[in-house]
Amino acid sequence: MVEKIREQFRERFRKEPLIIAAPGRVNLLGEHTDYNQGFVLPGAIDKRIYLAIARNDSRTVNAWSNEFDESFSFPIDTAQPDKGWKNYLIGVTYYVQQRTAPFASGVDLIIDGDIPVGGGMSSSAALCSGYGFALNELFSAGLTRLELAQIGQLTEHHFVGARVGIMDQFASLYGKAGCLIRLDCRSMDHEYIPFDFPDHRIILVNTMVKHELSGSEYNVRRQQCEAGVGKLQEYYPSVVSLRDISIGQLEKHMMDIPEIIYQRCKYVVEENDRLLRGCALLEQSDLPGFGRLMYRTHEGLRHEYEVSCAELDFLVDQAKHMPGVKGARMMGGGFGGCTINLVSQEAAAQFTTDICSRYEEAFGISPQVYLMQIEDGVKAIY
Ligand code: GLA
Repeated sequence: MVEKIREQFRERFRKEPLIIAAPGRVNLLGEHTDYNQGFVLPGAIDKRIYLAIARNDSRTVNAWSNEFDESFSFPIDTAQPDKGWKNYLIGVTYYVQQRTAPFASGVDLIIDGDIPVGGGMSSSAALCSGYGFALNELFSAGLTRLELAQIGQLTEHHFVGARVGIMDQFASLYGKAGCLIRLDCRSMDHEYIPFDFPDHRIILVNTMVKHELSGSEYNVRRQQCEAGVGKLQEYYPSVVSLRDISIGQLEKHMMDIPEIIYQRCKYVVEENDRLLRGCALLEQSDLPGFGRLMYRTHEGLRHEYEVSCAELDFLVDQAKHMPGVKGARMMGGGFGGCTINLVSQEAAAQFTTDICSRYEEAFGISPQVYLMQIEDGVKAIY
C-alpha cells in the first residue's frame, strides 16, 4: 500500500511525498473510562491510515481520499467545519497552526488505509494523529506526540461533535510493538505492558454495524457521568471525576442518585478497578483470569452502560462457549463495530470459521475477522 500511494502521489502532484503510517487501536480493558479520568489499556495495531503528503506553493490544502473516492480543498486558515472526513483535516490544520504559527504554505495529500471505517478501530483518530504528525514534520512545528493527541481530541470535540476521550489518539501516537499501554488518563502517565503470549491471538470480529460517535448516545453517556459526579460532589466535595469514587462510596448514595445515572457510574467505577486488576493478572500471565474480566466488562457495557447492541451481544454470547476462547467483549464506543476476543492460537482457525457461520445464520451478514498484531505508533516511512 505504501508504494501504491507513493506512486499515486507522484502521478497526481508531480513531486515526492513524505509517507506517514498511522495505526488504529485495540483496547483490552478500560472502556468509557478515558473521559472519566480513569485508566485504559490499548495498543496500536497493524491496520493503518497512510498519508502521502508534501508542501505546495499555494495557501490551500488539497486532499484526496481513496476510501471515499473524493477530493477536497480548503484554505489553510479555514476555521469552519464541513462534513464527514473533511472535518478531521480542517480541525487538525486549524489547531496545529493555533498552537504554533500560521503555515507558510498549503499541502497536497492522498489518504489511504486498511482500517475499516466505522468498525471501532479508530480510523478517525488514526487520520488525525497521522495528519497532525505530518504537518508537524513538514513545518517543523515542534509539537510533542501528546500535543498531537490533544489536537486530535480537540478536533473531534469542536469540528466533529463527538466529545471523545484521549485513548484512541494516544494509542495511535504512542503505540509500541508487542506492548499494551496502561494509560492514566488523568496524569497522562503511561506504562508499556508486554503482551507476550505467543500461543494466544487477539481476534476482532466486525459486526459490520457501523457506529457513528457524533450525535450519538456517546455524548449522552458523558453527560450522565458528569451528572453523577455533580451529585456525588454534594457528599464528597473533593471529587473531580468518577476516578475519585470507590464502589463503597457510590453504593452508599445509591438512593440519592437517579437510577440510570447510578448504573452508568457503577459501570465506570467498576471498570477502573477491573483494569487495575487486569494489569496485575497479565503480569502473572493469568489469561483465563484476564478473560473473565473481559466478559464482565461486556456485561457492564451491555446492562449498565447500555452501549452494546444485539449483534455485539450475540458475538460475545457465542464466543463464550467456543473452545480456546479466554475472553470476549465489545470494544470501543459501542452501538456496533467489533468484538475483541482472546483466543488460543490452536483454536483460532476454528473460532473464525464458527463465529462467521453462526453470525451469518443469525443476521444474514458475513462479519469480517481480523487477527491483530500489536505494533508501533505513528511514524514516517522512507
Ligand atoms: C471511543 C472514543 C474513546 C473512548 C472509547 C470508549 O473510541 O474515541 O475516547 O471513550 O470510545 O472507551
